[in-house]
Amino acid sequence: MHSLFTRINNVSALLSSCVMSLVIAITLASLLQEAIFPPQVDGQISMRATMVYQAKAYRQKRKQEMGFLNFNMTADLSPLFTWNTKQLFVSLEAEYENIKGVNNTIVLWDRIVRRPEDAKVNVVGARNKYAFKEVGGKGFGKGVAGNASYALKYNLMPYMGVLRYGEVTRLSNVPFEVREEL
Ligand SMILES: *[C@@H]1O[C@H](CO)[C@@H](O)[C@H](O)[C@H]1NC(C)=O
Ligand SMILES: *[C@@H]1O[C@H](CO)[C@@H](O)[C@H](O)[C@H]1NC(C)=O
Ligand SMILES: *[C@@H]1O[C@H](CO)[C@@H](O)[C@H](O)[C@H]1NC(C)=O
Repeated sequence: MHSLFTRINNVSALLSSCVMSLVIAITLASLLQEAIFPPQVDGQISMRATMVYQAKAYRQKRKQEMGFLNFNMTADLSPLFTWNTKQLFVSLEAEYENIKGVNNTIVLWDRIVRRPEDAKVNVVGARNKYAFKEVGGKGFGKGVAGNASYALKYNLMPYMGVLRYGEVTRLSNVPFEVREEL
């Protein structure tokens, strides 16, 4: 009995160290491949301005200044699909300086890409999926006279190994255009 247990123990210890080595090997191979062949992705965002209207955010009583986008965007993310790519999380983020001089980043649009067939992004006349407003419900205020940048970013989830982040493209100096109430 004793020797049987010992043997099972030894075998399972051996198996788990084999699995560990395999995981490490796959992770290293994946990192190595990326170091030798860095994925080249590119894309383009086009947007004329960020329109700012007084509007009510979801489940809010008071109106506040909110930004509205209308953009076209293309990107080819297929180089990011390798044997070790489980899925991509793609997001469009706005970066701007608020009235207090604080740099804010906010996700306004996103998409999950699970198959290489879906790795080409081509959106026309798209709007922000998520509300574009200042935290605290104060609205952008006159402080948003400046510009915003919009960056298309990805987050690559591999089957094994570490999450990776990257930027596909960005559009800088998009002006805010404050409009009268609708
Ligand atoms: C988006 O594409 C459409 C159709 O090609 C075009 O009419 C429109 O002006 C474009 N919008 C922007 C912001 O580039
Ligand atoms: C905000 O970003 C701008 C441009 O990248 C930079 O010049 C400025 O110093 C940043 N401000 C703060 C408070 O980090
Ligand atoms: C915003 O971008 C425009 C166009 O590139 C530029 O002329 C202007 O100086 C920028 N304004 C600010 C406040 O950065």
